[in-house]
Amino acid sequence: MTSKKIIVANWKMNPLTGKEAVALFKKVKSLAGKNKNTVIVAPPMLYLEAIKRMGLGKVKLASQGGVIGDTGAQTGMVSLAMVKKVGASHAILGHSEMRARGTTDQEVAEQVKDCITKNVTPILCVGEKEREGDMWYLHAVKSQIELALTGMQKAKIANVIIAYEPIWAIGKNAKREATVKECEEMAIYIKKVLADMFGHKESKKVSILYGGSVDEKNAHVFLEQGGVDGLLVGRASLNSKQFSAIIN
Ligand code: PGA
Repeated sequence: MTSKKIIVANWKMNPLTGKEAVALFKKVKSLAGKNKNTVIVAPPMLYLEAIKRMGLGKVKLASQGGVIGDTGAQTGMVSLAMVKKVGASHAILGHSEMRARGTTDQEVAEQVKDCITKNVTPILCVGEKEREGDMWYLHAVKSQIELALTGMQKAKIANVIIAYEPIWAIGKNAKREATVKECEEMAIYIKKVLADMFGHKESKKVSILYGGSVDEKNAHVFLEQGGVDGLLVGRASLNSKQFSAIIN
């Protein structure tokens, strides 16, 4: 675990206007400028270009998804090549909200590969729907990782970020956030799955994030005791005061 943390702001489908997006980004940029952590903002794709034109400062941009390839007859879609052109160095892939709308493991695997060839860092989201006593959730996470990363060259795995996002902990209907112990256990387990696939040395280079009801009160606990290299923040990233407290 490094002392420099990765904090990803997943704005999801917010805010409503480009004007608000630019204003929020301006605040984040100024906060990140004074902070040692790596701050990555994932706005709606529609706002990427306007934000890039403002100058990113120390902030990095992520797209929320993106389809593979460059251009083509795909009504309603935006490609990973396009988001790269407008400044995205990262892409959030396999988020549970995208999977719920039909994104398959197969598509996620193709997106991860396409990102790697395009030099965009995939932020691969994995997480179980339910956490029951029978440890089935471990299998769910393992299979998502295996399906997304099988076939990837060992030398490329360090370019992948994995976000552990238990679905039951995400969004305003979340049951609760994960406990620090649950987060730490899963971070260790994910490293083990990666070590089995790519070897111990390479697996240690992969950054693991936690996401799900992170706020200004629990962020430091996850970062200090959760065994993770950073956080993926949804709701709390839309409030600059809350987000400022998290990155600090
Ligand atoms: P939340 O979302 O912080 O609003 O729970 C997290 C996520 O979906 O990444």
